[in-house]
Amino acid sequence: MTVLVTGGAGYIGSHAIIELLQNGYNVVALDNLSNSDKESIKKVKEITGKNFSFYQYDLLDYGKMRSLFEKYNFDSVIHFAGLKAVGESVELPIDYYYNNVSGTINLCRVMDEFEVTKLVFSSSATVYGDPKTVPIYETFPTSATNPYGRTKLIIEEILKDLSYSNMKWSIAILRYFNPIGAHHSGRIGENPKGEPNNLMPYITQVAVGKREKLKIFGNDYNTHDGTGVRDYIHVVDLVKGHLKALEYINKNTGVEIFNLGTGKGYSVLDLVKTFSKVTSKSIPYEIVERRAGDIAVCYANSDKAREVLDWSAVKKLEDMCKDAWKWQVENPNGYKSEQ
Ligand code: NAD
Ligand code: WQD
Repeated sequence: MTVLVTGGAGYIGSHAIIELLQNGYNVVALDNLSNSDKESIKKVKEITGKNFSFYQYDLLDYGKMRSLFEKYNFDSVIHFAGLKAVGESVELPIDYYYNNVSGTINLCRVMDEFEVTKLVFSSSATVYGDPKTVPIYETFPTSATNPYGRTKLIIEEILKDLSYSNMKWSIAILRYFNPIGAHHSGRIGENPKGEPNNLMPYITQVAVGKREKLKIFGNDYNTHDGTGVRDYIHVVDLVKGHLKALEYINKNTGVEIFNLGTGKGYSVLDLVKTFSKVTSKSIPYEIVERRAGDIAVCYANSDKAREVLDWSAVKKLEDMCKDAWKWQVENPNGYKSEQ
């Protein structure tokens, strides 16, 4: 079975390719490298000892997308490609709508033309906005608080319409909670450009001495220690959910939405303390103002993924910290470290 992986050089895409190759799938990856480094593709080949084709193509380039579908007989597509920085999306909304929404429309058009109708899509827990209660079920109301989140909501609606229009489509929409950690080899991981927006890469950069201290955005939330609570999920657990979703869409048509989370919520301070415990690194921090748009608590109910896909996250917060740290300490400058 040949799977096209869009965004294959990125953080989650590169981990997914390892899992696919190790489970006997043929992979073709594309990425425009706007937020990634081709080095990740090289590392994935080294880790797995397997080869696959990589194309530096843009989803927005319809001609190149067509040429790829002419060349290969894809069975399915896992679609990770997209821009994902919340703050940047507020500054550059049109770039986000164009890249994420138009890019996905291009992908779906070419899939339709070549009758490739099995798709796994990366959505996000951000589509739940500020939920009234937790844990969050797939049936909860959705809303967007920023353009990035709105691109995910719009794409979800497009994919639903597509599947309602023709039952040949088979689509799994996966709503990720907070993916962190890295492959246990320490050879690939999250590689943010500039100052990290997300908590875990910020912590690892403080631990490795690249940043002075962590700024904790508020300690006056209604949580056990006042800091924000999230459902952190190991990236390797997360990508295993994609293989289960592929198996599911191979057997079922229509569209289904699944939360991919652990079902457990940890605060910023829980994560800092766990990281310090497993790495013996102290993380200096200061409490600063709340970050605009942040919510107090967010964690998943993932019963549907367990029952329908036979998938559950198994890795612990300790594993996530250990693996994120191994990647950071062995590659202090990300993919630039070994080049
Ligand atoms: P990432 O930025 O590391 O990977 C996305 C990849 O897509 C990058 O390599 C980028 O260069 C590529 N890309 C972007 N636009 C493209 C285009 N037009 N054509 C071709 N390639 C393009 O991000 P990630 O963390 O691996 O996220 C993967 C997907 O999961 C994204 O869709 C993201 O929105 C979604 N997601 C991520 C998180 C998270 O916290 N990391 C949470 C929920 C959802
Ligand atoms: C986690 C917690 C912060 C950084 C974002 C996107 C979401 C999804 C995942 C893609 C919060 C706190 C953070 C820091 C801090 N991405 N924090 N200091 O905000 O839950 O979700 O990434 O879909 O759409 O919004 O993740 O890692 O940024 O923050 O105190 O320097 O850490 O306030 O409580 P978030 P995060």
